[in-house]
Order: sequence, then C-alpha cells, then structure tokens
Amino acid sequence: MKLRSTALALFVLLASTTLIHAKDFNVNNYGARADGKTDNSKVLLKVWKEACEEKGSNTIYIPAGEFMTSIVEFRGPCKGYIVFKIDGVLKAPSDPQLGKSIWVVFKGIDGLTVTGNGRFDGQGPLAWRYNDCKKNKQCKDLPNTLSFRNVNNAWVNNIKLVDSKGGQLSINGCNNVHFENIEIKAPEDSPNTDGVRISASNHISFLRSVIGTGDDCFALNGGSRNINITQVFCGPGHGISIGSLGRVQDNEDVTNVVVQNCTLKGTNNGVRIKTWATSYTGIASDFTFENIQMINVNNPIIIDQKYCPNNACVKASSSIQVSNVKYKNIRGISSSQVAVSFLCSETKPCQKLELTDINLQYNGKGPVKTECSYANGVAFGTQKPASCFH
Ligand SMILES: *[C@@H]1O[C@H](CO)[C@@H](O)[C@H](O)[C@H]1NC(C)=O
Ligand SMILES: *[C@@H]1O[C@H](CO)[C@@H](O)[C@H](O)[C@H]1NC(C)=O
Repeated sequence: MKLRSTALALFVLLASTTLIHAKDFNVNNYGARADGKTDNSKVLLKVWKEACEEKGSNTIYIPAGEFMTSIVEFRGPCKGYIVFKIDGVLKAPSDPQLGKSIWVVFKGIDGLTVTGNGRFDGQGPLAWRYNDCKKNKQCKDLPNTLSFRNVNNAWVNNIKLVDSKGGQLSINGCNNVHFENIEIKAPEDSPNTDGVRISASNHISFLRSVIGTGDDCFALNGGSRNINITQVFCGPGHGISIGSLGRVQDNEDVTNVVVQNCTLKGTNNGVRIKTWATSYTGIASDFTFENIQMINVNNPIIIDQKYCPNNACVKASSSIQVSNVKYKNIRGISSSQVAVSFLCSETKPCQKLELTDINLQYNGKGPVKTECSYANGVAFGTQKPASCFH
C-alpha cells in the first residue's frame, strides 16, 4: 500500500513537471512567413533551439500555410521530448540544390514525435532534369526530403511527402522508430526518388502507408535489422527491395525483415533481394514475405545476386549469403512470364528458401514460369508457377 502511494506520488510529480514544462512553439510567433517564398530556415532553427533547451514535452507547431525553407538540420540531444506538429506545408527551395544530400533532417535525438496533416514538398519537378546519373558517373546528389539520423524512440505519423528532388524518406543509424499512415508521392518517371531508404537501423516499423515513386518503394540497405512493413500499398515504382548489398565492406548484413499484408501495383518488382555480382561478404537472412497481393507486377518474387547496373562490374559471384527466406500466400498477376526468379550466387547458393501457397498468373501468352539457379529450398501448398523445389 505504502509502495503504491509512493509510486502514485512519484507519477503525479512527474506528470506535473511534464505539464509545467509543456510549451507550445508556434512558428508564427517567431516571425515565420507563410508566403511560399521567404526562407524560414533561420526561424525554424531558432524555434528548434529554444524547444530543445526545455525539459518536459514541447510542441513545435507549423500551422496551415506554405513555409519555404532551405536546408534545416534539427539537432539533438534535447533536454525533453519534442513533438514536431506540421499542419501546413514545408516547401523546398526551387533551386535544385545540386550536390546537397539532405533537405530536412532530424539528428541525434532521443524522444521525438513528428505528426500533423501537413506535408513536405520537395519541389522535385524543377530539379529532376539535373539528374544525369544514367550518363554521368560524376553526377551530383539531389537532396533527400526528410531524414532521420541517429534518432531513437520516435513516432512519425500522418505526414505526407511529395515530389522529392532525390530520395523521399531516409532512416540511418536509428533505433525504435515507428511510422504510421505516411503518404509518399512522386511520379513514376521521377529519377531516383526512392520512397523509404533504411540503413544501419534496428526496430523500425511501417504501418498503413501508401508509397508511389519513380524508384524503390522500400530499399533496405546494409545494417537494417528487425524491420516490419505492414499494410503498405506500393505503386508505381520499383517495389520492395532488400539491397543492393555487398558494395561496401562493412556492416552489410540485413536480417529479420517481415513484410506482411501489403499490395504492390504496377511496380517493376514485388519483393526483391538484390546483391552486387562482385561483392564483399555479408548476410541477408531471416525474411518473411506474407499475404502479399501483386497487381501487374513485373517480377513478383525475385532474388538477383547478379546485380550489375550498366555492366560496371567484373563477372564474378556474389559473396552475400542469402538464407531463411519465407514466402507465404503471395498471389495476383505477374506482367512478365517468369513470376518467381531465384538467381543465386554460385559460390554462396541460397539456403532455406520456403515457398508456401504461391498463386501468380501471367497476364500475357503462355504459361507462368519459375527460374532458379543455385537455389535450395522447399515448397508447400499451391505452387503457381510450379516450384523448382521438390
Ligand atoms: C514486428 O512484428 C512482430 C510480430 O509480427 C513483433 O513481435 C515485433 O515486435 C515487430 N517489430 C517491430 C520493429 O515493430
Ligand atoms: C494480416 O491479414 C490477416 C488476414 O486478413 C490478418 O488475420 C492479420 O491479423 C493481419 N496481420 C497484420 C499484422 O496486419
């Protein structure tokens, strides 16, 4: 009894200090201009600095209106918890910002919510023609719209990202960050506008989100662990991709990814694992792809360990070990004849692939097919196309 009342008193004390310190920082009270032209970056950084110095839970509020801002880096650590609430639009500069890799970044923060019904508008259409990476090896970066770097314990919901210049959302060095009801949109022909890039991060989840882009819906790169993607709609774009892995030497492993109850529509790939043909060693293992609807997807199920864009590599065999990959209840329409393709490494053949209840039709002429090389696994239940495993 005594213990309980002490605990209660402690709770009341904590709650009241939180209440005392709960402050609202409306950017309009700091001189922000919602004219869509004035650069608000100085105001935003000033507001961030003040909020970050406060204990308790503090809300930075961006009300309705178009707030243009150049690059802003919201840096922690902060003394309390920050809620970044955006109901208006943060608008990128119309300048292409060639050579810059980020636009809005949250960095080094423990305890953050980003929420609201607002959006981050990257002003991509004005910059896409500067992306000449297909022809020019020294091509310059175009900035990613929203980045989380070394952020722990965060909750991001309801926001929208549109028309990034480069990638849309990037997550690097983060732990325990949950995204829900995120909308990401860029046109099918926009270059390298990956929806979500994750690297070197642990315990990241995506729930009930819609992602349409000109590149990968998700790209799970080196060091992604314990990632859940649930009830996400992807399309158009290049689909959900693990990799490409093996290009750099350290920390290339990707493990424990669950993709569940998702729909892919009109994408180049459905669920793909891709590793460079010439690669460093690494592990890609423990993945589950379950309850996935494919609507006119070009390569619904694909492992490509011979990835070598522009034929820029020596003909060699990938040293990434792919193992323990489960595909369950994957159904729908393939827009190419080979609906299941496992092209694994000659030196590190795929191990423990598992296909359960696969039902894919080809929407062209002829039978739907599987192709396999250096792939080991088992198959259960329905298998359309017929599996290579017996
Ligand atoms: C992913 O989902 C599983 C259950 O399906 C759950 O146990 C796990 O905590 C989730 N991980 C994350 C990062 O949300
Ligand atoms: C996925 O869908 C199935 C079937 O509709 C449902 O039983 C299951 O709870 C869903 N799982 C998640 C994590 O949404």
